[in-house]
Amino acid sequence: MHFDTLSVHAGNDIDPGTGAIRRPLVMANSYALPDDPSTLSWSDFGTPLYTRNGGANQGWLEEKLTLLETAGAPGNVDAVALASGVAALHAVFFTFLRSGDHVVSSDVTYVAVFRLLTELLPAKYGITATLVDSSDPEAVRAAIRPETALVHIETPANPTTRITDVAAVAEIAHAAGALLSVDATFATPVLQRPLELGADLVVHSLTKYVNGHGDAMGGAIIGDRALTDRVRAEAMVNVGGAISPFNAWLIMRGAVTLPLRMRQHCANAQAVAEFLEADPRIAYVAYPGLPSHPQHALAARTMSGFGGMLAFAVRGDADTQNRFVAALTVVTSAVSLGHDESLIVHVAGDDERAGSYPEPFRTWGHLRLSVGLEDPGDLIADLTQALDSLEP
Ligand SMILES: Cc1ncc(COP(=O)(O)O)c(C=O)c1O
Repeated sequence: MHFDTLSVHAGNDIDPGTGAIRRPLVMANSYALPDDPSTLSWSDFGTPLYTRNGGANQGWLEEKLTLLETAGAPGNVDAVALASGVAALHAVFFTFLRSGDHVVSSDVTYVAVFRLLTELLPAKYGITATLVDSSDPEAVRAAIRPETALVHIETPANPTTRITDVAAVAEIAHAAGALLSVDATFATPVLQRPLELGADLVVHSLTKYVNGHGDAMGGAIIGDRALTDRVRAEAMVNVGGAISPFNAWLIMRGAVTLPLRMRQHCANAQAVAEFLEADPRIAYVAYPGLPSHPQHALAARTMSGFGGMLAFAVRGDADTQNRFVAALTVVTSAVSLGHDESLIVHVAGDDERAGSYPEPFRTWGHLRLSVGLEDPGDLIADLTQALDSLEP
């Protein structure tokens, strides 16, 4: 089946109880035990037992995600759905790292990963991390140590949109006996499928594009079943970041239109990025679809589209950025991304990752824009009137 067909049908089936042609919402936290439960393990995840061990809606969502991430050829791959993207990222670190281990990570990642790897895991568990510019595979290679157990990258990276060559980094990680995990939240399985490029684990914040409607949180880890079974047994059952059935149901519904939405996100973001780059009032634009992006060629070679995320700054100080955002009427000022509506966020001041951002980000600050599904003409008109409003 083609990807668009899978997006519609994967994980869905006729409900045997009611005949409904959609999977129902099963709001239960417990399932009937067999007559003799004495053989059950309370840490089991294979038998319907308790929603923290696995539930109906999370199972159907996991089936859909597995099929999307493998383009319909799951082999031994499986997915674990959890309560948020950060729960999924933490589950990877919790499951596959132990005291004394070392991680090589992108120096630009979602901020919770930065904090986990640079503050919390070192202080609590004696895990160390070296942060590198992962768009340079040689920097990854140079950071590897004998105790490196995991290489973690995010591509495209939040917020700089930096692209990493997954296949090149996978080769380096595997030569060192380490696993490669890839946070592919910005790309989604529509634009890149890291498992096909050699990654061991893919992580998504389902809160973003996969759900796409800004009304639910979730996260997923997808990889070989031998790895995901460990995530279930160690992090899901015993740490407990299970996704709620309702959120799993919402995300499953949202995911049906993922390829359709990604096509529109990509087309709109390209139009907005080109508009911004041509305006002299804009200091810089970071978007993988622009030839000026440092990894434009790599993105064109390894992704089937450039995504819906971009970063830019208006020429001016932090107050200018704030006044620009305040003047927008179609684009909403809010965190999160990948929603149907365009969202912009001005991250100023307290961003501890800022030292790793490329030069224009450090000079001008940045506005992160998640380009939504609105008509691109309306988005460009909104950006234009907000820029015009800054003129003295
Ligand atoms: C790339 C990336 N990964 C992970 C996360 C965290 O996801 P969640 O907010 O669902 O915990 C985010 C959130 O913005 C993100 O942008």
